[in-house]
Amino acid sequence: MSLQILSIASLSIAFASLTVLTYILTRIRGLNRAADDIQRGDTTVKIVESRLPVLGQTARHYRFLSMAVTDLEQMEKFQQRMLAYEKKEMEYLLETEALSRQLKKQLEETSKANRTAALLNLELEDRNRSLNEAINRLSALNQVSRMLGMEHDRQQIYRMVVSLPMELLGAEIGHLLLYSEEDDDLVMEYSVGLADRSESRRRINVGDGMAGWVAGNRKPLLIEDFAQQETFSPISSLGYERKTAISVPIMTKDEFIGAITLINRQDGQPFQQDEMTLLATIASEAAMALHNVLLLEKIQKSYFSMVQALITAVEAKDVYTRGHSERVTQYSLLIAEQMNLPLSQMEIIHQAGILHDIGKITVELSILNKPTRLSPAEYEKIKNHPAVGYRILEPIEFDERIKLCVLQHHERPDGKGYPNGASAADILLEAKVLAAADAFDAMTTSRPYRDALTIHAALNEIQRCSGTQFDPQVVEVLGGLVNTMISSGVLETLHS
Ligand SMILES: [Fe+2]
Repeated sequence: MSLQILSIASLSIAFASLTVLTYILTRIRGLNRAADDIQRGDTTVKIVESRLPVLGQTARHYRFLSMAVTDLEQMEKFQQRMLAYEKKEMEYLLETEALSRQLKKQLEETSKANRTAALLNLELEDRNRSLNEAINRLSALNQVSRMLGMEHDRQQIYRMVVSLPMELLGAEIGHLLLYSEEDDDLVMEYSVGLADRSESRRRINVGDGMAGWVAGNRKPLLIEDFAQQETFSPISSLGYERKTAISVPIMTKDEFIGAITLINRQDGQPFQQDEMTLLATIASEAAMALHNVLLLEKIQKSYFSMVQALITAVEAKDVYTRGHSERVTQYSLLIAEQMNLPLSQMEIIHQAGILHDIGKITVELSILNKPTRLSPAEYEKIKNHPAVGYRILEPIEFDERIKLCVLQHHERPDGKGYPNGASAADILLEAKVLAAADAFDAMTTSRPYRDALTIHAALNEIQRCSGTQFDPQVVEVLGGLVNTMISSGVLETLHS
């Protein structure tokens, strides 16, 4: 019995132990599965609690472990997200930096391009300026050339060849020296900008100074900076300081005429090679004009010498009219000056005064010196001398007004003069001046047929004939003039 009971008890214990063991194993398997799940990454596994303290504790440990793993996983995921974010941030930064570098490069290129554009612009402006200057100079050159071609007045030519280049090149001083063949030196004919005008007409030896060098070498000369050379003094012989200068010769093919010189620039800059070339071009344009004017003057001078010799011959025939032409010229010029006549009219009066009686060369000496009254035929011959004088001068290249003055010097405002009986309106003012001066001298000089009238008597006679034989305005001026001449003693000198 007891054995049986013991067996039953053992069996029961065994069964109970088996049950417990099974239960434990089941829980352990559950834990193992959970562990497997966690190992695979599934942290959502539910761990069944156990009433067995050991298992329960183990299960709790597993749960904590699972939670810790979950936390770790989440932490890792968070860190991965952070890393990804930082990577993106870094990539963005790198990209921004690259963009910034690119932008900077582009800015530098733009700035460089801007600088190049600015330089190009400056260059363009510079070229524009040069082009404008070239156009201005060309136009001025054309103007000088055109004007020189038309100009026959020596003073006007002087002014053109000095003042125009001075203005064009901004020079402070300019002068023109002409070569004198007689004295083999240079004479300053025209200057601008020289303080002392009394020094403006002076002589320079060939070889002396800049212009002298140009005359000697017949070459243009440019001195950009006087301080950089020792050949020429920075102080000119006229006493002014020279910093920069150009001097060019005026020459025809084989004749040296003179030199144009420009000194110092208003802007303080040195003269340049191209400016010397420009001045040399103007000088070559001036050469022919000056050559022609000087030649014409030479011809006119020799012609006048010849005519004056003729006049002297005429007056030599007529002892009573000796010096008459010279005195008539002087009276006429004094009247013209008093009337403020322009220089051109004074010049006509001057030349016509000398020539007015040239026609008398054809009148016989017996008529000119006849002590008694002239016969009508003889008077006709005398009356013919203005027309003869006109014919003598006609073929000569001469201002027509000079010839007309010779023709009209015995015409009267009332139309009763000779040779044509011209009316007042048709008689030149210069001829009216000559007529009064001629009559005044004739009356105050002894003639074969009468004695000289006194100055007052002559003036009274002329004033009596004012408006008929003589122009009233001229008579009025002559009246004032004669009174002045009497008080100053000029009349006595002219008649001595
Ligand atoms: Fe006359």
